[in-house]
Amino acid sequence: MGRATIELAKAQGFDVASAGRRAGSDFHVDVTDAASVRALFEHVGELDHLLVTASPGTPGPLLEQEPEQARTFLDGKFFGAWLCACYAAPRMPAGGSITFITGVAVVRPPRGAAMVTAAFAAVEGLTRALALELGPLRVNTIRPGYTDSEMWGGLSDAERKDLRRRVAAAMPVGRMGQPEDIAHAALFLMTNPQVTGAVLEVSGGESLVEALS
Ligand SMILES: NC(=O)c1ccc[n+]([C@@H]2O[C@H](COP(=O)([O-])OP(=O)(O)OC[C@H]3O[C@@H](n4cnc5c(N)ncnc54)[C@H](OP(=O)(O)O)[C@@H]3O)[C@@H](O)[C@H]2O)c1
Repeated sequence: MGRATIELAKAQGFDVASAGRRAGSDFHVDVTDAASVRALFEHVGELDHLLVTASPGTPGPLLEQEPEQARTFLDGKFFGAWLCACYAAPRMPAGGSITFITGVAVVRPPRGAAMVTAAFAAVEGLTRALALELGPLRVNTIRPGYTDSEMWGGLSDAERKDLRRRVAAAMPVGRMGQPEDIAHAALFLMTNPQVTGAVLEVSGGESLVEALS
């Protein structure tokens, strides 16, 4: 989703920088490490728009996780977003924007991943709170559904093909989401000056239909 947004933003004339843990990003950052996030934004300097896509951590069933393991997802997703906002906002102009990413799990929790639901809900709450606190800087969230990104890279070819087929069959739009769909929404949120505190679901109608079995 991040890469697709970078490509679309470049095509629209934005000067774009990427950050992540892997080589190949313009800047290194680990959003679970406050010092790393602070150093990133010190390096980057002033910026107009920020999109945070990272979801590090290991969610799992409530009764099968140790507390420290359960905290990793909240730390990565929620505090990662919080840290990025905290260190970026002072370098951003009025009318600039921060966009977070959650997922349909926030309204239709998958079994055995309570911390995903809780962390996504926390990020959506943070969105509304920061829209007030940081305005006229704008703060929004995209809530994707099944999106055919690298996140599914751990599946075999056959499993991924089967996922695409089942998602397309189940969703009102008849297709699985593409990273470009999220990029389109991200550019909308960055460029529409009247949208703040919003959660924009880009899920093909996933929250309207039964969960995939
Ligand atoms: N794909 C879906 O079906 C789907 C559905 C609903 C919600 N979502 C949510 O949408 C968001 C983006 O998903 P995606 O599909 O774009 O996932 P992705 O392809 O796995 O990309 C995630 C990105 O986060 C970065 N990242 C991970 N841990 C990080 C860390 N500790 N510090 C800094 N960067 C880190 C990764 O880069 P590095 O490895 O270089 O760090 C990677 O570029 C996630 O929050 C995911 O939970 C996805």
